[in-house]
Amino acid sequence: MAEFLSQYSIQRWLEACPQGYLEDTVYGHEAGESEPETVMMDEAQREAAIRTTTQLVVGERAALAASSGLVNAAPDYASKQFLATQTLDEARHVEIFTQRMYDLGVKKDDLESTLSQFANPNLIKFAEVLLEKVEAKDFIAGVVGQNIVLEGMAFTVFEMMEAGARDYNPKFAHTLQGTIADERRHVGFGENRIGSLIKENPEKRPEIEKMQRDMTYFMLATFADSFSGNPDPIDAPAEAEGASVEWQGVNLATATPEEMEALLAGTVLGEFKTRLARIGLEYQSPSMG
Ligand SMILES: [Fe+2]
Ligand SMILES: [Fe+2]
Repeated sequence: MAEFLSQYSIQRWLEACPQGYLEDTVYGHEAGESEPETVMMDEAQREAAIRTTTQLVVGERAALAASSGLVNAAPDYASKQFLATQTLDEARHVEIFTQRMYDLGVKKDDLESTLSQFANPNLIKFAEVLLEKVEAKDFIAGVVGQNIVLEGMAFTVFEMMEAGARDYNPKFAHTLQGTIADERRHVGFGENRIGSLIKENPEKRPEIEKMQRDMTYFMLATFADSFSGNPDPIDAPAEAEGASVEWQGVNLATATPEEMEALLAGTVLGEFKTRLARIGLEYQSPSMG
């Protein structure tokens, strides 16, 4: 527990994050960086970027609600302290992706209506499954849903987007890089804290596995919607073609939407299997029927 305490202390967070990789950033990116002209001048690309960023704001708002709710559900102070740092991380993610909405031209007064217009209904259902556990103060299920399932998904989606944006949109890539570093810490906490609790509470397994199955169902439905309804869901426009936009051995600039969806879903599900096995749970495949 002593090692756990220092690994997830507020002191460690201060040194690694605000005084570390976030030092000198402005809304997560370098000062003076802006969205590329190609995005701002092309209405279809700008709308695709707004649609994609909407899902990031919706996901991060759910993460903020979950991590803050779990502070009071946590059984020990080391976990409360870590979740307090995570709460601030998630609030920052909400802020930087909301700022991107403004940078893309959304008026402050139109933020909520734009989010409602573009939010994927399956992503909202995904979040509801998690927040139900948090509202019931179910710490074990809440941490599995937030720090393993939601963040395992977010981590992989952000990595794919970062690879796609690195060459053509350094501002967005930098915003994602700090977020990915935060998510890596959050996922690590989930794995380290929850394995022993699941061992001590085996009766909770069926309910947690059902939550994971339901969340996975809505996640895959969200991916399917994104890649069929959005010309540019990962935010890497055709201009990036020719540049090397490689992720997991696939060129994102030339891959078809079907190939990208399969690649993303396959990568996330692989992550789930590995991480769930580490905490003593078996991955449950959703029935898509
Ligand atoms: Fe986050
Ligand atoms: Fe997170």
